[in-house]
Amino acid sequence: MSLTKIFSNLPGNHIPHSISAEPPVVLLERTVGNPDPVEYINSGKYLTERIAGFLASVGIDLTGCSKILDFGCGAGRVIRWLSLLNGPEVHGTDYDEEGIRWCRDNLESVKFHVNGELPPIGFNAGAFDFVFAISVFTHLDEGHQLQWLKEFKRIVKPGGVILLTTVSHSHLIKREDVEVSGKENFLKQGFFFNRTDYWAGHFPSFYQDCYISYSYMERYWCRDFEILGHFPGAMHNQDVTILRVKDT
Ligand SMILES: C[S@@+](CC[C@H](N)C(=O)[O-])C[C@H]1O[C@@H](n2cnc3c(N)ncnc32)[C@H](O)[C@@H]1O
Repeated sequence: MSLTKIFSNLPGNHIPHSISAEPPVVLLERTVGNPDPVEYINSGKYLTERIAGFLASVGIDLTGCSKILDFGCGAGRVIRWLSLLNGPEVHGTDYDEEGIRWCRDNLESVKFHVNGELPPIGFNAGAFDFVFAISVFTHLDEGHQLQWLKEFKRIVKPGGVILLTTVSHSHLIKREDVEVSGKENFLKQGFFFNRTDYWAGHFPSFYQDCYISYSYMERYWCRDFEILGHFPGAMHNQDVTILRVKDT
């Protein structure tokens, strides 16, 4: 059954707890910067439908996947909705132990895991046919990104895909707090990691704000991956990129 059909069949007054569970404000603020739990849950539904749409546009049926991983799942905003699909086994992982503890206690239809700041992650090679990370590569430094991409390559089965969101120049030019030299750097390198103390106290220093251009992806990511689709500003103003592991 299609995702839209499953969602439209949900009984209005009896949404299962594993969908409607409201994370505590501290987790909402840390993962999406907005304390409203209703908006959080509804945005998860919206994002899930968008993900299905982006995959469909490159010829992939999300409902046909057998095992899906939400990397950096936070309080399960998106993966809770995917748990409504009958077919796939759905997993969420995050480095934030507190968030995963809450997910385990509240979203019983998903298997949750805590991963380290860096790989390896405890999954077998080729375990997943789809891995996605929403608003995660928007924050990681280059070293973390490249190591996680290598790990995704290992845990995704041949022919499987990865969907990542990133932000680019259109976001950077709006940032008045970023020095001109940082913006110039981005134009030269196609990559800029903005180190500030904004996230101090919430996340370690590898977690900041990161800007990535399409040409950077072509230069560095395409050694191991083929870009199946790139949709600038398409999901909550973030760029969406779908990668397939190259046959080596
Ligand atoms: C902006 S939040 C987005 C959460 C979720 N994807 C969503 O869209 O609601 C970024 C998430 O990435 C997680 N994260 C940061 N570094 C990570 C890492 N090295 N491994 C796994 N998750 C990480 C954070 O703990 C946080 O939950």
